[in-house]
Amino acid sequence: MKRPIAIIGGSGVKSILKGNQKILGTPYGPTPSLTIGEVDSRPAVFLPRHGENHSSPPHKVNYRANIWGLKSLGVERIMATNAVGAIDQQLSPGEIVVPSDLVDMTKSRIGTFYESSPVTHIDVSQPYCPKVREVLTASTAATGRSPPREVVMACTEGPRYETPAEIRMLRTMGCGIVGMTGAPEAFLARELEMCYASISFVSNMAAGLQRTLSAREVEEKGHETSQVLNKILTGAIAKIPESRKDCPCGTALAHAQLRKEETQEIA
Ligand code: HPA
Repeated sequence: MKRPIAIIGGSGVKSILKGNQKILGTPYGPTPSLTIGEVDSRPAVFLPRHGENHSSPPHKVNYRANIWGLKSLGVERIMATNAVGAIDQQLSPGEIVVPSDLVDMTKSRIGTFYESSPVTHIDVSQPYCPKVREVLTASTAATGRSPPREVVMACTEGPRYETPAEIRMLRTMGCGIVGMTGAPEAFLARELEMCYASISFVSNMAAGLQRTLSAREVEEKGHETSQVLNKILTGAIAKIPESRKDCPCGTALAHAQLRKEETQEIA
């Protein structure tokens, strides 16, 4: 049985597949209703991050239930969509970006599955799966776009947008885009040794770079870009190799946990 590829859909992105609806129970609570089906005869799952009616704001999304639920279905690869604001003024609304790194500016979210023993420190020197990124970048290029190679995403707590001063700070930190859903999702996937990469669409210029920000504008851009995003995702699903030999994600825990003797010595 082939393992399903998961799409986590964000603001404005509707399911790219038809199939059976299923809510999964997890130790962290239920998932939203997932669509389990196929894309071009490869098994696939769609998870609407904010729930079916967009009822969970970004700081209340049950990221652990979502990632755990996907893992329990045998998912090894996740492609996650996000709406983002552009901090880098080379970018403009409507553009599509495959982020290369992530700055976690969230405040209230539970960011780990490992809250007790075994103490676990996963390596996020490469926070996104290099293979899934490569496939998403190629699939984006196949639509005639040229996504920038390196873009750092900042994930803020929300649900409010940022202040202009916060955006200036994020720019000096090297961030090119800002959203509210990239973290801890990417880190939780790595903790469960799943491959994860994001595909982000620029819905607006970040605070201070346009007059005001509106949630409606972000939603509308989501609808506008959903067709091209679906095309990119469908192309990417077809191109993801069956086996995971080209990335280190599947062995993320190999050196992440302290050995028993070390734990005792430190204690
Ligand atoms: N900031 C944070 N999250 C966002 C933005 C933004 O400007 N646009 C879409 N999601």
